[in-house]
Amino acid sequence: MKVTVFGIGYVGLVQGAILADAGHDVCCIDVDQNKIDNLQKGIIPIYEPGLSSIVEKNYAEGRLTFSTNAEFGVNFGELQFIAVGTPPDEDGSADLKYVLKVAETIATHMNSSKIVIDKSTVPVGTADKVQAMITNVLNERFLSSESQPKFSVVSNPEFLKEGSAVSDCKRPDRIVIGTDSEYAEDLMRELYEPFNRNHEKIIVMDVKSAELTKYAANCMLATKISFMNEMANIAEKVGADIEQVRQGIGSDSRIGFQFIYPGCGYGGSCFPKDVQALVKTSDAIGYESQILKAVEAVNYSQKNKLFEYICQHYFPELNHQAVIENKSLSGKTVAVWGLAFKPNTDDMREAPSRVLMDSLWQAGAKVQAFDPESMEEAQRIYGNRNDLGLMGTKEAALNGADLLVICTEWQSFKAPDFDNMKSLLNEAVIVDGRNLFNVQRMQQKGIKYYSIGRTP
Ligand code: UGA
Repeated sequence: MKVTVFGIGYVGLVQGAILADAGHDVCCIDVDQNKIDNLQKGIIPIYEPGLSSIVEKNYAEGRLTFSTNAEFGVNFGELQFIAVGTPPDEDGSADLKYVLKVAETIATHMNSSKIVIDKSTVPVGTADKVQAMITNVLNERFLSSESQPKFSVVSNPEFLKEGSAVSDCKRPDRIVIGTDSEYAEDLMRELYEPFNRNHEKIIVMDVKSAELTKYAANCMLATKISFMNEMANIAEKVGADIEQVRQGIGSDSRIGFQFIYPGCGYGGSCFPKDVQALVKTSDAIGYESQILKAVEAVNYSQKNKLFEYICQHYFPELNHQAVIENKSLSGKTVAVWGLAFKPNTDDMREAPSRVLMDSLWQAGAKVQAFDPESMEEAQRIYGNRNDLGLMGTKEAALNGADLLVICTEWQSFKAPDFDNMKSLLNEAVIVDGRNLFNVQRMQQKGIKYYSIGRTP
């Protein structure tokens, strides 16, 4: 089948590459000439395990093409994916301007029937807006509705995770298709046939339900995390160990082990944005979402947790606001391991590390940071600052620092040489936002260890 994908970000590129790899002809369109030039040279704009070889292979074999020519893209495929970004508006609602711009572009150039597929995460009701945009433009272009090319708008949300996007996309848990058109359903089934071989994964529903499914899934996962972080805070106060509690509850199959890892707060480009957007959608229809507001509030305070441990360590009598106001950490250097919002990505959007570093800088401290993949991204975000050292190895980050904070659970952080660490750090103190180490082991090693939901 011939497929066009508008928007070569995370979702669009992975989806386009995987569809091409399954044998479809895919044309990827983006407004960013630089991105397209790079992709044509085999330079992938994101770090995602397994992606570059798939892009290279399918590009070389001619099933995957990249262009900035929107008109060409519209005429290329009967299936037109919209996979452009929906950044949060100033008030937190999803900004649809890019999505609607693509809809307008499709309507401006289409001369044959099209299935327009919303792949971006868009609020309930967006398909109606896309439908209205295309109808308006077609009404301007054609005198009678009979002479207009036919189209149908489908909601087909994406559920891939950064870091495992390729395998999530190749082997999806489910493929949600929101449509009221039998013709569109049939084409979508044909498109996804290569991914639906062994057992039925396609779930067809109405468009609005498909749109809400995406938000409900992300908000449910974010809720699990904030719930667990709240339990961790309670565990800490009552002297319980959240890691034991996690095993105790996860073994109930109704709860399950996934997404109940306590930590320093969820980040990334999805959960914070989507929870906020659903709160806004609810507010706009006069329904106050109490749970989602609490999920956001818990996450906000959890991201301050690591800084609070540092304050507690040095100034148990001061609250963390006072530490900032007095610049009490002047002269201190803090080693930070992990800048990405989670392992196997270089993405630092909404990462807990950023909240921590901002507080440290406000309180007068210097940071020596290391991340296996995000060093370039950190350089891009922060440029050259006197109070940030971007170090080449995890050991270099420790050298001469006063204590270590761990923000991301990279595999390479899980079994460090503790004796070497102690020799490099000024003080044997670890603040661990991901509960990587055993509390008793840290005691044996003579390391002062702060972690989430476990009393030191
Ligand atoms: C998330 C969803 O998991 C995907 O299903 C969805 O398709 C995607 O958003 C999206 O909407 O595009 P992603 O943002 O890549 O994927 O990352 P996750 O693996 O879900 O992790 C999100 C955050 O939650 C990370 O900061 C992670 O550290 C945190 N987390 C996750 C926890 O703190 N505890 C856990 O138990 C799990």
